[in-house]
Amino acid sequence: MSVTVVVLAAGQGKRMHSDLPKVLHQVAGKPMIEHVLDSAAAVSDRVPVVVHGHGGEQLVAGLAHREVKWAEQREQLGTGHAVAQTLDQLPADDTVLILYGDVPLLTARALRDLLEAAADSGFAVLTARMPDPSGYGRIVRARDGSLLRIVEHKDASTSELDIDEINTGIMAVHGSLLHKWIPALGNDNAQGEYYLTDCVAMAVAEGTAVGSATLADAAEAMGVNNRRQLAEVERLYQGRLADALLEQGVTLIDPSRLDVRGTLECGRDVVIDVNVVFEGRVCLGDGVRVGPNNVIRDAQIDAGVEILPNCVIESVTIGPSSRIGPFARLRPETTLGRDVHIGNFVEIKKSAIAAGSKVNHLAYVGDAEIGERVNVGAGTITCNYDGAFKHKTVLEDDVFVGSDTQLVAPVRVGRGVTIGAGTTVTEDVEAGRLVISRVRQKTISGWERPRKDKPDAGKQ
Ligand code: UD1
Ligand code: CA
Repeated sequence: MSVTVVVLAAGQGKRMHSDLPKVLHQVAGKPMIEHVLDSAAAVSDRVPVVVHGHGGEQLVAGLAHREVKWAEQREQLGTGHAVAQTLDQLPADDTVLILYGDVPLLTARALRDLLEAAADSGFAVLTARMPDPSGYGRIVRARDGSLLRIVEHKDASTSELDIDEINTGIMAVHGSLLHKWIPALGNDNAQGEYYLTDCVAMAVAEGTAVGSATLADAAEAMGVNNRRQLAEVERLYQGRLADALLEQGVTLIDPSRLDVRGTLECGRDVVIDVNVVFEGRVCLGDGVRVGPNNVIRDAQIDAGVEILPNCVIESVTIGPSSRIGPFARLRPETTLGRDVHIGNFVEIKKSAIAAGSKVNHLAYVGDAEIGERVNVGAGTITCNYDGAFKHKTVLEDDVFVGSDTQLVAPVRVGRGVTIGAGTTVTEDVEAGRLVISRVRQKTISGWERPRKDKPDAGKQ
């Protein structure tokens, strides 16, 4: 059975009060509609069809990196009308899965259940039980439990309003049925809209049984209409991720103070303290400990590494047993070997630092290649930029860099060199040398500091 996915996303999202189309607002760092498209991709190999509203250029541009077919709905005349705009792109012998771009928490599992429920008759709806069903369409069933129709809140009688089984809006319909029913929809109802949900009554009228699948977790059907709901959906999503990590054996000091905006892979016995934000693709090896208040993006962090508090780490590989922070910034294209220490107020950019080397205090290392067991003293700066070009600094194995050194690149410092504190290194240094460019100290005896000899000086 081939499945074609239709995503409805023409709604304006007025209540977001935003210049950005609603479905491009992000949950866990990814536009809502991409969550929908990703779940859909788990059950469908076909290119999905997305319905956008008038002036959908921003939405089309926002999804330019994905393969999507578009259908424009100029006026929002209802969900049935929205699907009507896609009919010419829907194969009659596919099962069509209709999703909403603003319902991002639905799992692939729920979609599979729905498709299974549709397997017999070619039509099924996804329902949920809600303690407060107000606003939703209600599922009206016969005594024998079979589905009769869906009635919108605004069209419902008082007894129908008591029904707590609601329509999530998501359905699976065989293409041939959609091609028959959609053109026949009317708009004689409280909102004057073409309701997709009227397909249920049509099916029943012609003797087609309507299947249903009911969500185990109604929160999956949560739609986003305003920023409050966006925040709620974000927390639900993060809660799910945190649960999965705990389940898998990760220690989260507070599961409600973790944000994963991308994918996080963890080895055994990983400990993550509070307020850590992971972005992009991050892998933490066995026994990694991440202290509080860290932002870590696209990083490979090997076993036994400790990240102390308040670091910003992006596009970096960190070798086993290294120690980073507190207050370190590791910028893209940085590779650290085994047992490297990067300490307080240190910035590293596009550099490779080999095993056992240490940059412990107040330093800037950019465009550098640092060997093994190198000690970079406090206040060391690679002067890598001449105003137009970036240049490279090379420190070979076992170099000792005294505090407050400037390394004016391009420059190479040979194996085992010692650089005296306060040196400005402007030329290459051969292995084993001591290099120092410090001005000799003068000590002057009998020197008196200038004094203000005002008569009333003491009164202040
Ligand atoms: C719809 C369902 C209702 C269900 C509820 C679940 C109908 C008639 N009603 O109601 O039974 O309980 O969803 O949230 O289907 N859209 C378009 N074009 C339109 C109208 C809507 O693309 O002309 C899109 C919206 O962007 C949204 C989705 O369809 O993604 C649902 O629209 P919305 O207005 O929220 O539907 P409801 O009236 O809430
Ligand atoms: Ca809605």
